Amino acid sequence: MNKKLISVLVSACFISMVVAQQSKNIVGAGKTVDPYHYKIVKIATFNKACVASAHPLASEVGLAILQQGGNGFDAMIATQLTLAVVYPGAGNIGGGGFLMARKKDGTQIALDYREMAPAKSTRDMYLDKAGNPQNALSESGHLSAGVPGTVAGLFATAKYAKLPFATLIQPAIDIAANGFVISAEEAEGLNENRKDFQQYSTRPTALVKAQPWKAGDTLVQPELAATLQRIKDNGAKGFYEGETAQLIVAEMNRGNGFITLDDLKNYTAKERKAVSFNYRGYNIISFPPPSSGGILLAQMLKMIEKYPVKSYGFQSPQSVQLMIEAERRAYADRATHMGDPDFWKVPQETLISDAYLAERMKDYSPNKASVSKEIKAGTIHESDQTTHISIIDAEGNMVAVTTTLNGSYGSRTVVGGAGFILNDEMDDFSIKPGVPNMYGAVGGEANAIVAGKRMLSSMTPTLVLQNGKPFMVVGTPGGTTIPTSVFQSIVNVIDFNMNAADAVNSPKFHHQWLPDEVMIENNFSVSTKLALEKMGYKLRNIGTIGRTELIKILPNGKREVAADIRGNDSVAGY
Ligand code: GLY
Repeated sequence: MNKKLISVLVSACFISMVVAQQSKNIVGAGKTVDPYHYKIVKIATFNKACVASAHPLASEVGLAILQQGGNGFDAMIATQLTLAVVYPGAGNIGGGGFLMARKKDGTQIALDYREMAPAKSTRDMYLDKAGNPQNALSESGHLSAGVPGTVAGLFATAKYAKLPFATLIQPAIDIAANGFVISAEEAEGLNENRKDFQQYSTRPTALVKAQPWKAGDTLVQPELAATLQRIKDNGAKGFYEGETAQLIVAEMNRGNGFITLDDLKNYTAKERKAVSFNYRGYNIISFPPPSSGGILLAQMLKMIEKYPVKSYGFQSPQSVQLMIEAERRAYADRATHMGDPDFWKVPQETLISDAYLAERMKDYSPNKASVSKEIKAGTIHESDQTTHISIIDAEGNMVAVTTTLNGSYGSRTVVGGAGFILNDEMDDFSIKPGVPNMYGAVGGEANAIVAGKRMLSSMTPTLVLQNGKPFMVVGTPGGTTIPTSVFQSIVNVIDFNMNAADAVNSPKFHHQWLPDEVMIENNFSVSTKLALEKMGYKLRNIGTIGRTELIKILPNGKREVAADIRGNDSVAGY
């Protein structure tokens, strides 16, 4: 996209949400965060530390924690908890996520707090007697929920933080109890889901009120505040045991869901080993299975590395076509080879090896679309609605977290008396081989449902190092489009030398093997689209792909940070 146009779009997004209501300053010694008056900031450059997230209040809370002496992990915990209050469509305590971090001493942390299939789950639980898939059951309501992982993840992260957990959760409690003003986008989301909240919840919820929501209304969530208070008072047990757990199970019993007290008590977050590889001299560190994201990212970048992408030109037909074909081949592998590594042997080393990837690109022909039904997964010769936060602190700790409820507002089941939405993450399993899930992705045995297994994800929280030093923190929501958005954002920075905002805001495209089509943002170059169609690609225009948050560390050490123009996403820092 023309750089000037991007700048114009970005300036247009400096929206001030000033609402004529009483201020309630709430956070920390500085009292800097006001949930009744806040502003979206899309781009900035800070000297020391910064946060980018899907909501201005969450980013501001993260900043306040950094300024109170917290490190990047403290800021992440506080930001994520605030998102659970101010961004109910994806921020959550009823979902799960992945944290990819690098401490200032170089230690890498890949923390898996993905949801898990309840113990009662069975392989065919979403098939009717005739074997037909019942997608409505895996996508909505009580039966679509996996055992939530977010709270376990927050406490597993706390061991790297500096401040007391009570300090980190207090802003979220205050905002839930006293309310905050909602944006036009949030009002629209709540109104669109009103019927679903009523259909899939068994008790009244604060997310539904008598009149339709409008921008500037105040959303107060007393039940959610009480749940957060129990977590503050009792730690992870405040969620996985006691009153909150009983409320979840009571909700399950009223709605024929599967999650039991034992499922909750037995849930643990797990440390994994990051996927680490080089691309044009940069070291990329991303999330391993049960996410497909890190492997897909490695495959796509390494498949294009031997081609002179820069000389092809940014979003020229040649560079886009090459990237589409890399995406197609990587996603074919996703469908067959990737799943929870505790249940399925994922051939990770092979999938990202140079020899294997060279073989995968052997049938690539420039200027001609491949056909997905002729591109199977590679043969392995050897004995797997979401939101993202990017943070770097003053010490150089890098933290990338992607967390999810799956679809927008998850299962739309709000836990009665506890005030939070449960995920519909079970739909990320392959409910029947070859049957597409809500993202159109297909899978097979590797991602079949098994009790206790974690469903395959696409979340790709990613860190990039240059000469062993922090260079980029990046990630996005977007279901199966996540790895391709991260892929393109990295190529935009490394190959096309873009700044953070241009890398994020440039139009994106996505191919996932099946369906055999290229999803492409409406504002993509028309001439490139025509050229791709001539080569044989079927294009499907869509409004937006992803909401990427990207931090680029400049040679002088300053932190250039961009929040995606596609939502209310916002940055903060100092
Ligand atoms: N629910 C989206 C993902 O985990 O990929």
